[in-house]
Formats: sequence, structure tokens, C-alpha cells
Amino acid sequence: MPPSLTLILGSLSLATLWLFYLATLDTSENLSPQGCRMSWMSPSYILQNDFNTSWTPLARRYSLSLYREVGWDPNQAQGTPVLFIPGNAGSSHQVRSIASSATRQFYTSPSVVAPDFSERTVKPLDFFAVEFNEDLSAFHGPTLDSQIAYISRAITYILSLYPANTSILIMGHSMGGIVATSLLPSPDISTIITMSTPHVLPPARFDSRIDKIYRQNRQALDSDPTPILSLCGGATDMMIPSESCILPMDSQGDVFRRTVFTSALEGAWTGVGHREMVWCHQVRWRVARAALEVGAADSPSTRGDVLDTWLRDGHTLPNAASKKTNPETNAPEKIPFENVDEGSNLLVYGPRGSRTYLLHVPSGVPSSSTLKAVVLVGLGSIPPVSPQEPAPLRVSVYLCSSSPASQEAVPRCNPLEPSLLKLIPNPVPGEVFPVPDEGSGESEGSVVYEGDIPPLDDEHVEKRWIAVRVENGDGRGWVAGGFSRDDEVIAAPSTFSLLFRRANVVFRDAKALRTHFMFPNILSNALIVYRYTPTRPIEESWCSDPLLAPLIMHTSHPSETHYYPFNIPNRRILLHTHSPAPYIPVGSSVPHRSLNFVIYATSLGCNMLGFDISIDWSATLGRWASRYPTTLVSWAVGVVAVVLFTAWGVCDRDSAMPAVHQSLSTYSRYTLRKLLLASFVIAILPLPVDYYLGTRGELFFAPIAPLLLLTASGLVFVSWWVLSALIWPIGLLWSFVFGRPRRREEIGVRRSTIVSMGLIFALIFLFVPWQVAYLGCWLIHLLTCASSARNLSLLKSASTPGGAPIPLIRVTGTDDMEEDKPSEIQNHESQRGPVQNYRIDNHNHNMHLLLLMTWLLPLVAPVLAVWVRTLATAGLTTPFDGDHDFLNVAPFLVLVDFASWNTGMLFERQRFERALSVRWCLAVLAGTGFFFGPRRAYGVFDVAKIAVGLIVIIRVGRRYWGGAAWSVDENKTVR
Ligand SMILES: *[C@@H]1O[C@H](CO)[C@@H](O)[C@H](O)[C@H]1NC(C)=O
Ligand SMILES: *[C@@H]1O[C@H](CO)[C@@H](O)[C@H](O)[C@H]1NC(C)=O
Ligand SMILES: *[C@@H]1O[C@H](CO)[C@@H](O)[C@H](O)[C@H]1NC(C)=O
Repeated sequence: MPPSLTLILGSLSLATLWLFYLATLDTSENLSPQGCRMSWMSPSYILQNDFNTSWTPLARRYSLSLYREVGWDPNQAQGTPVLFIPGNAGSSHQVRSIASSATRQFYTSPSVVAPDFSERTVKPLDFFAVEFNEDLSAFHGPTLDSQIAYISRAITYILSLYPANTSILIMGHSMGGIVATSLLPSPDISTIITMSTPHVLPPARFDSRIDKIYRQNRQALDSDPTPILSLCGGATDMMIPSESCILPMDSQGDVFRRTVFTSALEGAWTGVGHREMVWCHQVRWRVARAALEVGAADSPSTRGDVLDTWLRDGHTLPNAASKKTNPETNAPEKIPFENVDEGSNLLVYGPRGSRTYLLHVPSGVPSSSTLKAVVLVGLGSIPPVSPQEPAPLRVSVYLCSSSPASQEAVPRCNPLEPSLLKLIPNPVPGEVFPVPDEGSGESEGSVVYEGDIPPLDDEHVEKRWIAVRVENGDGRGWVAGGFSRDDEVIAAPSTFSLLFRRANVVFRDAKALRTHFMFPNILSNALIVYRYTPTRPIEESWCSDPLLAPLIMHTSHPSETHYYPFNIPNRRILLHTHSPAPYIPVGSSVPHRSLNFVIYATSLGCNMLGFDISIDWSATLGRWASRYPTTLVSWAVGVVAVVLFTAWGVCDRDSAMPAVHQSLSTYSRYTLRKLLLASFVIAILPLPVDYYLGTRGELFFAPIAPLLLLTASGLVFVSWWVLSALIWPIGLLWSFVFGRPRRREEIGVRRSTIVSMGLIFALIFLFVPWQVAYLGCWLIHLLTCASSARNLSLLKSASTPGGAPIPLIRVTGTDDMEEDKPSEIQNHESQRGPVQNYRIDNHNHNMHLLLLMTWLLPLVAPVLAVWVRTLATAGLTTPFDGDHDFLNVAPFLVLVDFASWNTGMLFERQRFERALSVRWCLAVLAGTGFFFGPRRAYGVFDVAKIAVGLIVIIRVGRRYWGGAAWSVDENKTVR
């Protein structure tokens, strides 16, 4: 017998999941590797007992403590308050790395203030941290609400320990950042720094109340004047997709909002995992320093400047440089012209003393491209940018011109405003970057300067130069200078052409200091990763040690940059971005197309000819896998709804209800084919970003839809096998424990049912969240199905003389099951009475319901987990507000209860259903699962509950309350 289609699809989807899992592992290790030094500290925590229940009843559940570095900090609060809010399942102790760093930067040794701070008004920091007992706040709105309420009181308490008008700086890790943002607007909060916080898309989308908090936060993010900085770990963060960490960019007015990726953070240049974000040394010392300096700043705008100075990613110009636009300082500057060298490019190693170099600005540049002056400095500074502890070497850049009219021998020079001025890493050639468990040193990095040279509009100007003034050289460091044009546009390769062959690019200028490559037809999206492969000449030319080994700078988004050195053996260079991404609304400033990167090198063509760009499938699959788990669950509910819809359709045509395995087989043979095609076509439609795949109809990503659908369908098949495997032993056990299945036929039962139902509802109303009741419903139904399956098998073996199994189907008329119909069914048909038929129908209905209820479980499971967790840490007394709406489970309770004692037909078709069958509810459920579910998974359960409610009202109706209760007369013909 050939393996059935369902078997093939089921195994295929398991294989796909495994493949996705492997790809995710690959992504986390290779896409944006982590290089972080561990941090060390001597922590102690002073519990704030005075912040007790007279402040807030939540003090019973949570606690607040003050961090003290043992031997360094005095035992009471004394400086500027900072509050640390941990995230989902986080701990107050996560504050220690940053807090310890702040203390050890402020003091050089216990009670000796560091010289940087001794002459200023900067005060040491008092780090308070809340302990939420590892609450699972990401899954549950009310838990998040309690945290918000507690923090709000905690801030009042903390500020009561300080002089009036003190404000507090808040740091939030992960969901703690959501708590922090939701406290706005507040005059007490000076600044918010969030770390790995999913600001725009909740990581778990199973609770509508979380969405509500996010909507309120969105308003605060858009307009509240409090400065907010969001630190994101990039692809290394497997807990939250980093695109949701990017603050929305359409904020109004001059509110300070910055998103800093650690891969771009100057001095860190590494991907940082979710939990590592609080202890990664390269990040924590900068966060601590920024916090120290923010404490001394007195207005939102100066606080913003401080954050920009200490947590720089180079996407904005440094404060001092941008403020030089004052017209008064624009007067021609006299630069000393002793020691002048002229040339067309510049490379000085170990400069000594001071010297000025003049570089001829090349003429004949087409007006379409901007000419840039590029200067790179190693070890020194181009003020105000420098490594943390630079050598005295200073470099400044001027634009000079001479006109024949003026008789001056010396050209007139003006400082040339930078268009980019930042620190870039300078990795050791041949070594892994970033160095695992070590990362970049505090004082590493080279300064890169770029200035746009304005087009020549003055006819009198004869000649122009760039003057590079090098001062205070002490023999350390180096300076390189030259020109670059933004015109390496490579239009030919498109994302589709990369499917078939890689794009090859040859370097035009092997000596270029900076080369900009732009592929305008290649998609830029979180769902696709490209691989950059350097092509080497056949005979490797020998190169002297370059000052700056070739470095790729990939800026994919206005606040996201990655650096990749390309002479590391055995490491793939994976160009990726986090925005645009599925389900994340983006502003118009984010390009959907065009791959852009710049290569800096002091000897580019040294031993490379050029490079290849191709799609990296392993990393790409890993990206899909981490973006679509919710979609997969929601689509699986959609698939189950479609299966039920078709099965009920068969039933509605006055045929027997098919068994689940038959429904699944019909689905896999007929329905799936059409659905696959439809899923692809819908994926091409430009739907809003919240719906379906969230790709806005991008053709290239359309194949994800059929792939997901196949996997979801396969998972449904697999889940059915698991359920079938469960039912058999449970049925056996059940009959073993309770003897033969019993039926309760007395009308009197009904009254006790009503009483017990009332009791259950009261229980839900008072103590148990409805999610627990739903789990109960599912268990009861599993037992019902198990016992009825057992009963049917007993019945069968009793009624078949030869013990041959009877297929559980009665076939009348034509239906979709034609192909599945074994020919011998007709023969057995005669042996089965009508009573048996409706019993088989009931059983099949029950099994279909069981499948649906099973797939609804993942939607309520997160809150269940939160409840169990909260029960363990805070006890039953904890209010679980908002989860006591028994209407959420009432339809399931009634249906499940009815199915467990009903002796007649489970569902009765009403006459008016000839016009519109209630089964269309299931079609609506399927639509919700496919379109709305991925972004708002909670909506799927809401629709399911309404659908089941309607089915109960229409098809069970009064029979449940005993009105038309009829115990079956075994001889009566049903139907
Ligand atoms: C809370 O602490 C304050 C100060 O220590 C104390 O006066 C008050 O009685 C405490 N309240 C309770 C309910 O313990
Ligand atoms: C606090 O600020 C208010 C208004 O901003 C001011 O009137 C008051 O004097 C300040 N109090 C202290 C102690 O600085
Ligand atoms: C179980 O089977 C027995 C006969 O074997 C039958 O009388 C009884 O009604 C069945 N119970 C259910 C719940 O189908």
C-alpha cells in the first residue's frame, strides 16, 4: 500500500520544522556574532522595607531594593536615583553589571572621586531595582498592568527619599522597557533607556490587553518630551526580533528618540543576545557612563545630547560638529602653511609634529554624483570624535581654493563640514571579528571623516584643494586621505536574478580609500540575507600589512549599521537588515529596495579582485523561522477550520459525518491544492502590513505562504496522529477504571448539570481564570472522545460476526469522499442500524471538535503558564483581573458537557439553515486564522468562541436545558 498523502505531508512538515530549527541555530551563530567581555562586580542589595503595603498592596507581591557595590558605595541613597525594571522572567539582580560599572567609573578607588567627575556637579548613581519574581509579563496584560502600577508607586517612594524636584532615570530591560514607556507622561522621569525592548510589536500576541498597552505607549513614543533611547542587540537576540526594538521614527516635534544597534554602537560593534544586553561589558560601561552624565544634565535637550555622546552609533553628527554651523565662525581660517605637501592622495604612517597636506580636488566630476573628501585616522582624533583614550594626534580638514584674481600666495581655507564623522572598528586582519568572549577594546577604532565637496559654482576659482592638517603627531597612529564618488551603482542584478546566479562585481579602483556600492534592484528586508564572497586573484599578490584592512560598512536602515571585515578565513559575510520586516509598519524613510554598502580600506585591491553577492539560504530560512511561529499556529487553526467546514458540508448534504482521518485525507487531496494556489495569489496582493504574511504583497516572499500552509497542514495531521494515539490508551484506562461506558438517561441529571455549571461559572468568576476552565473543557472532551471511541469499537466487534472492522462511514448519495470509499462499505451498510449511524456521526463530530479545541489550546496556553507561575510565586490571593469573564468559555463548556451526556444526535440541523448553514461560522474562523491571526492571535480565539457559541445556540439549542430533551428510543429511526 502506498503511503498516504497525509503521512507524506505530515513527515514533510516535521522535516521542515527541523530544517527551520537548524537554520535558526545557524542564524544565531553566524549572522551577527557576539563578542562581549564578561563583567565583574561585588554586589549587595538593600531591601527597601519601608516601601510596604501602606504604599501599595502590590508590595506583598513584588519588592524593591537598592544596589550597593560592596566596599565602594555608602549604605544609603546619596546621589541621583536610577530605577532598573527587569523584563519577562527577569530578576532585579540583572541591575548589577551596569550599577557596578557606574560606581567604579565614578570612584577611582573607594571614596576617591575620579578626576573626570571631581570638578563637576555630577553625582554618583543610586540604582534601585524591582523584583518581579520572574513574572511572565510578556504574555499577560494584567500582569504588565500590576507591574506598571507598582513601578508608578515605587517612583513616588524613591523620590520621597530625595530633595524636591529630583527626577529619576529609568532603565528597562526587554518588557521592562514597555513598563517604563507606559509610565509616560510623567514629570518625575528624566530619561528612559531601554535595552532589547520590543517597542512596536509584542513578542507574544495572544492577549488583547497587551495590544492596548502598546497602543497607549505608541502615543507616548510619538509625542512625549522625555528622551528615550532604545538599545537593540540585532540578529543575535533570539528572544525578540530586533525590528520590533526600533523606535517609530515619525515622532513629532523635537522629541529625542534614538535607536542604537549594538552592532553600530561605537566601541562595541557586536551583536548582543537578549540576556547578555545587561552584562556585556562594552555596552554596560557606556550605559552607566551615559546615566552618570544624564544625572547632571538639566533639560531634555541636554540629556539627549549626553545620550548621543555616550551611546553613539555614528548615524548623527557629533554634537560639537553639528553646532559649528554658526555663521560667525565661518570666516576664513588661517591655517599655518609651514610644512605643506601636495598630492592627490595621502597616506602617512606615524606622523611627527605638525604638517598640512594639500590634496587636489579632481575636476570633471559629473554633477549627478557627489564628490566626497575622505579622511581616515588611526589612533588619533578628528575632534570631537576619537577612540576612548586617543594618542595626541589631531587631524582637521579644510576646503581651500585659490583664484587667479587674488594675488595671495596662500589659498583661502574654510573648515569643511563633515557629512559623516564617526568611529569604525579596525579589526586585526585574519582574526575573527568580533573576538568571541572578548570583543573590541575600549580604546579601539579608527576615525572616519567624510565631507561633501560642493560643486564648483564660482568661475573665478581656479584650483581647489582639501587641506588635511595633522597636529601633535608623536610617531603613533596614521592618517589616510583621498576622494570618493557615490556612483558605483550596479543596476543589473535583481533579487530574482540572484536566485539563479550570483552577481559578480570587480573593483574599479584598487587603491580607493572608500568605495560605495549600491544595488538598487535588490530587496532590503528582514526576511532575506545576502552573502558577500570576496573573489581573490589566482596568484595572491603579497601585501604589506595594511593600516586598515578592508572593512564593509552596511547601513541598511537610518539607525542600523553592521561592520564586516573580509579577510577572516572560514566566516561567511552575511548582509542583513531588520527593517522593513513582517507586521512592522515602517516610515517612508526606510528603503524597501536597494542594498547599499561602503568598503573602507587603505589598500583595497591588495589581494581581492572584487566580490560576489548571492542569497544565503540557510540564514534566510532562519530569518523566516524566527518571524513566523505565531503565523504558523494561527494558520493551523485556519486549516482545522477549513477541514471542519468541509466535513460539515458533507454532513449538511444529508450524508454521514466523515471521520477525521477521512476529512483530513479529503483535505490533503482536494482542498489543500486550491488553498496552496490561493495562498500564493493572496500573498501577491498589496495587503496592509498587519495582515496575512505581513509582506505587503512582495512577490519574492509570496512562496512563504504555500510553504507555511503546507507546514501548518502537516502539523495538523501530526497533531491528529498524536490525539488518536492518546485516545486509545485513555479509552482503555477509562473503561478499566469505570467499567463499561455508562449513559445517563434520566431527565433528573439535567438539573444537577445546571447546578454544577453554575458552580463552575462562579468559580471562574471568582478564582480561576477562564483559560484554566478551557483546559478543563479540553480534558473533558478528550475523555468523552476516548470513551465513545472505546464504546464504538466494542459495539463494532460485537456486531461484526467475523470481527472484521466496519469502516466508520455510511455513504449516501454522492459526496467528496468518493475516492476514499472502500467498495465493501455497502456490504456492511445493511448490518448497521440507524441508531448506530447517528452514534458514529456523533463520535465523528466529537473528534472534529477535539481537533479544533486542541489547536485553540496554544492560544490560551501562555496565560495558563502565567497563572501557574503566579500561583507558585504569589499565591492564589493574587488578583488575576480581567480573566474571569466566563462568557469566554461558556460555549465550550456547554458543548463539551452536552457531548458528554447527550444520547441523541449531537447536532440537529435547523430548517432555516437551508438558506445559510451555521457551518459558515467555520469559514469565518478560517479567514480570521489566515488573515488576522498572525498579528492578533487573540482574535482567533474570540472568533472561535463566537462560532462555537452560534453552533451551540443553533444546533444544540433548547435540548441542552432539557426542554426538548429526549432520551433515545433505541428503535426510533433518527433522521
Ligand atoms: C510601612 O512602613 C512604615 C515606615 O517604616 C511604617 O510606619 C508603617 O507602619 C508600615 N506599614 C505597614 C502596613 O507595615
Ligand atoms: C521645584 O520646582 C518648582 C517649579 O519648577 C519651583 O517653584 C520650586 O522652587 C522648586 N523647588 C526646589 C526645592 O528647588
Ligand atoms: C456504549 O455501548 C453500549 C452497548 O455496547 C450502548 O448501550 C451505550 O449506549 C453506548 N454508550 C455511548 C455513550 O455511546
